[in-house]
Amino acid sequence: MERTNYCGQLNAQNIGETVTVKGWVQRRRDLGNLIFINLRDRSGIVQIVFDKETQKAQWEIADTCRSEYVLEITGKVQRRAGAANENMKTGEIEIVAQEITILNTAKTTPIEISDDARVSDELRLKYRYLDLRRPKMYHNIAMRAQITHAIRTYLNENGFLDIETPYLAKSTPEGARDYLVPSRVHQGEFYALPQSPQLMKQLLMAAGVDRYYQIVRCFRDEDLRGDRQPEFTQVDLETSFLSAQEIQTYTEGLIAKVMKDVKGIDVQLPFARMSYDEAMNRYGCDKPDTRFGMELINLNDLVKDVDFKVFTQAIEQGGQVKAINAKGAADKYSRKDIEGMQEHIKQFGARGLAWLKVEGEQLKGPIAKFFNETEQQSLMTALDAQCGDLLLFVADKKSVVAASLDALRRRLGKELGLIDNEQYNFLWIVDWPLLEYDEEQGRYTAMHHPFTLPNQEDIAKLATDPQDVRAQAYDIVLNGYELGGGSLRIYKRDVQEAMFAALGFTKESAQEQFGFLLEALDYGFPPHGGLALGLDRFAMLLAGEDNIREVIAFPKNSRAMDVMTSAPSHVSNKQLEELDLAIIPQEK
Ligand code: AMO
Ligand code: AMP
Repeated sequence: MERTNYCGQLNAQNIGETVTVKGWVQRRRDLGNLIFINLRDRSGIVQIVFDKETQKAQWEIADTCRSEYVLEITGKVQRRAGAANENMKTGEIEIVAQEITILNTAKTTPIEISDDARVSDELRLKYRYLDLRRPKMYHNIAMRAQITHAIRTYLNENGFLDIETPYLAKSTPEGARDYLVPSRVHQGEFYALPQSPQLMKQLLMAAGVDRYYQIVRCFRDEDLRGDRQPEFTQVDLETSFLSAQEIQTYTEGLIAKVMKDVKGIDVQLPFARMSYDEAMNRYGCDKPDTRFGMELINLNDLVKDVDFKVFTQAIEQGGQVKAINAKGAADKYSRKDIEGMQEHIKQFGARGLAWLKVEGEQLKGPIAKFFNETEQQSLMTALDAQCGDLLLFVADKKSVVAASLDALRRRLGKELGLIDNEQYNFLWIVDWPLLEYDEEQGRYTAMHHPFTLPNQEDIAKLATDPQDVRAQAYDIVLNGYELGGGSLRIYKRDVQEAMFAALGFTKESAQEQFGFLLEALDYGFPPHGGLALGLDRFAMLLAGEDNIREVIAFPKNSRAMDVMTSAPSHVSNKQLEELDLAIIPQEK
């Protein structure tokens, strides 16, 4: 029989119709003469009823059914005999089975197919096809498809061409390690899986394509976190002849369409803009969650002469003293809790966490004694501190202060319930530095990538004051996550060469790695720029999840493994021989 309806779409309007549904047994309830089966498909659940008196043959088959059996049911829709089940979309009706076919049986599943089931992450990944049967997971995956549909519609309507670029590629530096693919034909040589299609999309601009997009997989071998997978998907755009502002406007239109089509939300355009410096000063990070306050306050001027060495020394060594005010949190956190926070921020290099509580008009806590009456008053004024507030201080070099207080602020924002989960705060971060100094490598690295266009007036500084060069780059931030990033690109050969030199490339090494790009710059390369959005992160945030695994059908675990298929895995010696590769066990 052909299916006539999805289970979850039946309602009182179908009463009297004969329907055929197909799906999985969610639950079987045996009341002796009556058996109820809840049948589930991707749309939801419907109740099927079998009465031993009037449907003996069907009842006998139903009696053998177990959870997750796959059934085909034909029957008549009727109003439920008892009261409607308000918790079920189809709760007003049920199907009286006329025919039942067991399409397949099922063993007891290792994970329960229910949104409420508590299952370990590893088990969920090992039996991902069962995990995906859970309604919430299905909805996440379906919502992701809605997002890509909206994106394609918008970009197609705006003249962007969907063009594929190679996966077997040459390494592009986006800052992570490459995944390498050995070549059989060219023994000893390797492709790199692209960290992004950055250079290919630029070359499409050289080709005159004018507007490109691709919903594309990118591969990066880097430390994994909740918002990072080794392979992830970008909505990748590139355009010719547009200003940074115009590219941002297209991006805003794209995001607005997704928000409207998928969430029914009208976002306000244009999005807010904040400079990189302002974000770092006020929030200690370049992707601030602006849904709540608790901003970082610089106290250098105020505490530079106090009698507390922890503070004064940090300032003397060129560092900072900054604090956040957790309003009304004094009673919520004990000394021990605060020690826990101190432990937490040690991973960012913090050597300690100083704190004060406001009791009445007074500051209380182990470091209160270091501040006289006037100093206490000015601290309270600077931090807008009132009775019941908890003040948390970090004194260290600038980067440690920023990272530590950013982490604390995020944690406290969550713990104190300061975040409105219904709010979507989109924010452009602009005015980026082009380069940052990498202590470990002893050289400058690109904040975004080596193809980012410097501000016109800064180009001369590339050779003399690289740290002062500003970039025509922009990131889009949503609720504290970096949703995407982009820039105008270098389109003149001399500028690209100066950039490579600032990054420490010799002429030869630049030629060897990027000769094809340098050459293309000689043949009429148009001014161009673009951006890439992290699709997984976007879907995660719209689904209200906090790990991108929840919106990826088959993700890797935190050790970059697919535990369902066991990848990565050993390969046969024959395969290795064909590639002229040998595994040399490493000495421990
Ligand atoms: P970028 O490296 O900033 O830019 O990447 C763009 C966006 O991709 C997402 N993203 C990730 N998502 C999940 N897992 C990861 N490991 C991961 N890495 C990045 C983020 C990020 O903002 N070629 C440039 C774009 C351009 O300049 O046009 C690029 O790749 O959301
Ligand atoms: P100490 O003088 O080392 O006993 O530290 C006094 C208080 O200052 C303790 O609560 C420490 O946790 C805190 N502290 C120490 N180093 C720092 C720092 N770099 N930043 C903020 N607080 C600190």
